[in-house]
Amino acid sequence: MAKRVLVSGGAGYIGSHVSVELIEAGYDVVVADNLSNCDMTCFEGVKKITGREDIPFIKMDFCDIKAVENLFDEFKIDAVIHFAAFKAVGESVAEPIMYYKNNLESFMNLIQVAHGHGGCNVLFSSSATVYGEPDELPVTEKSPRQSATSPYGNTKQICEDILRDSVNAYVTGDSTVHIGSDRPGPIKGIALRYFNPIGAHPSALIGELPRGVPNNLVPFITQTAIGKRDCLNIFGNDYPTPDGTCQRDYIDVVDLAKAHVHAVRRMLEGKMENDYEVFNVGTGKPLSVLELVKAFEKVNGLSLNYKFAPRRPGDVVAIWADPTLANEKLGWKAERTTEQTLASAWAWEKHLADK
Ligand code: WQD
Repeated sequence: MAKRVLVSGGAGYIGSHVSVELIEAGYDVVVADNLSNCDMTCFEGVKKITGREDIPFIKMDFCDIKAVENLFDEFKIDAVIHFAAFKAVGESVAEPIMYYKNNLESFMNLIQVAHGHGGCNVLFSSSATVYGEPDELPVTEKSPRQSATSPYGNTKQICEDILRDSVNAYVTGDSTVHIGSDRPGPIKGIALRYFNPIGAHPSALIGELPRGVPNNLVPFITQTAIGKRDCLNIFGNDYPTPDGTCQRDYIDVVDLAKAHVHAVRRMLEGKMENDYEVFNVGTGKPLSVLELVKAFEKVNGLSLNYKFAPRRPGDVVAIWADPTLANEKLGWKAERTTEQTLASAWAWEKHLADK
């Protein structure tokens, strides 16, 4: 029988791409989402792409522990990938308690209930933000984590720690904190540290759906190209980088989704070398804001209205991954080219405009 993977926050941008790749790899998927930051567009897209009308969708909030218990009572879950979280850096600075409550409580509920239902393999969606402004580039998993510069970034670090500590504590499967059954079991965990996920599925049926004015670069670019925004501000052109603009490691969302399938397989097939593991998920190649803008213009045959603007507070100058560990241990490598990725982002924006 196919193993079943719970995707919390599975109706969102990354969760929907991961659901597609899991299904295409032969896993059964249960999607759970409270739709607080998305609608059903991407979940409908997942059904269309995979041709699977029968994917269970549970509208629920992971902060509601009773709902989490009901979910684990109803489905036998072999692995869970946890995306359900708030993710806007600026908003987290304005509303720290909302972020800590939501992002930490939901994850603790999940682990506690999973532990009480025979144990589970837990994959946490972490972020390169844990490295802050790195002293050395590229960053490896051994590079030190730096103090978070936002409550959002801090929740990523704390959730990594919650997972690591739970794995260590519940390794025998026994404890008194489990909820919901008399058969507590071990937790195993992987944290994937994403660099900058961009792009959309080649079908253009799922992609990023930012609410309001996008904070992230690529949605701002595509919205400017389509005419929803007047002009892209490039935040800072006096950084100590080759062209003066910040450098990032932009990872195609489908490549990123595939990394999750490899990580889930590693857990389910008992291939983990430690019960808690961390992997960078990036391309290993830095790209500057200006290089990305130029590549977008070239591949899509258009010219983008942009101007240089002051630096954005809180931005790191440059960060990119050393993805060697994921390449070797997960057997995963980013495959899509920047051109393919930027073409897919534009196709998705046009798809939205046609709707
Ligand atoms: C990339 C580059 C900007 C918008 C953030 C979070 C991180 C994460 C991903 C989220 C930077 C520049 C951007 C614009 C610009 N996790 N930029 N004009 O800041 O690297 O990472 O998103 O869930 O935790 O911090 O990504 O896309 O916002 O910015 O010039 O209108 O583009 O200054 O150099 P970032 P980003």
